[in-house]
Amino acid sequence: MRSIWLDTDAGFDDWMTMLMLASHPGLRWLGVGVVAGNASLPVALANTLRICHHYRLKVPVFAGCDRPLSAPLETAERVLGAQGMRTTGMPLPEIQVAAEGLDAVTALGNALRNSPEPVTVLAIGPLTNIARTLQAEPALVDRIHELVLMGGSTERGNHTPAAEFNIYVDPEAADVVFNQAGLKRRMFGLNVCRQVLLERAHVQEVQSWPGERAMCLAGYLDAYQRIRHPDGRVPMPLYDPVTSAWLLRPELFTFQSARVDIELQGRFTRGMTVCDWRIGQSALPNTEIAMTADGPRVVDAVLQAVRQTF
Ligand code: BDR
Ligand code: CA
Repeated sequence: MRSIWLDTDAGFDDWMTMLMLASHPGLRWLGVGVVAGNASLPVALANTLRICHHYRLKVPVFAGCDRPLSAPLETAERVLGAQGMRTTGMPLPEIQVAAEGLDAVTALGNALRNSPEPVTVLAIGPLTNIARTLQAEPALVDRIHELVLMGGSTERGNHTPAAEFNIYVDPEAADVVFNQAGLKRRMFGLNVCRQVLLERAHVQEVQSWPGERAMCLAGYLDAYQRIRHPDGRVPMPLYDPVTSAWLLRPELFTFQSARVDIELQGRFTRGMTVCDWRIGQSALPNTEIAMTADGPRVVDAVLQAVRQTF
C-alpha cells in the first residue's frame, strides 16, 4: 500500500487524475489539498468538491493557498473559461458541500506526521501549498516518500514560450520545492505530456460509455480535446493524468536525472525549468525527469482506469 496526498487546482485534467487515484487498488489516499491555479481558489475548490461528490470519491478535501507566495495570481481562465474547465455537454451539478475545517497546508503537515509510512505527494497545480508546508516545517521532508509533480518542461513552455503553466503561476514556490534538501522529486513536464495525445477517437470512446456520470465526463473531455482546434483535429496532450498513469503503469515511462532550477528573473523566461544534464561534470542531480512515455498505452491506461470508477 502506498500512502498518497494530492494537491490540485482542479481543472479537467486534474479531475481525470482524481478518478484514476480512486481506481487504484494499491493506494491509501489521505487527502486532497486545493490551490489557486487553473481558476481562483473558490472555483477550484468548488470543482474539487463537486467532482468528489458526484463521482463518490471518499477523500477529505482541504482549501489551500488562494495566491502564489509573492506574485499576483494568474489563472488559466483565458483558455479554460471562468470555471477552469469547459464542457460541450451537461455541466457538473452544483452542490452545497463544504471543505474540511483545516487549511490544506496544516492538513498536509498532519497527514505527513501521522502517516505510518512516508507519503507520496502528487502535485498537479502550482506548488504554493507544498512550498508553504515545507517552509512551515522543513523536517517534514523526511516524511515525504517522493514529490511527483506535473509541471515544467525540458523544452518549450505552454503558458509562455519558456514556461509551463503550473510553474509559471508560482515560480517562487517551485524554487522552494526544487531547492529543498532531502526531497526526492519526479517531474512530468510538457516534454513527456506531449507524447501522450488525446484524439477524437478517445473522446468518442468515452461518449459511448453508459450512465450519467460517464456522459457528464465525456462533455468535459470533448471540450478539453478541442482546446488545440475547435473541430478536434489537432490532438491534445494529457497533462496531470500522466502522473497517476505512472503510479499505475511505471513500465510505460523512462526517466533521466538532471539538476532543475527555476528561472525567477528572466524577462522572457520567468517560470522556466532550467534543466542541467551535465551530471557527473558540473551538475548534481535533484530531479528524475520523465523523458519518454508510450503515449497510446498511457492514454489507454488512463481511460481504462477512469472507466472503472463508474
Ligand atoms: C497544467 O496546467 C493546468 O492547466 C493543467 O491542469 C495542468 O496541471 C499543464 O500545464
Ligand atoms: Ca492541474
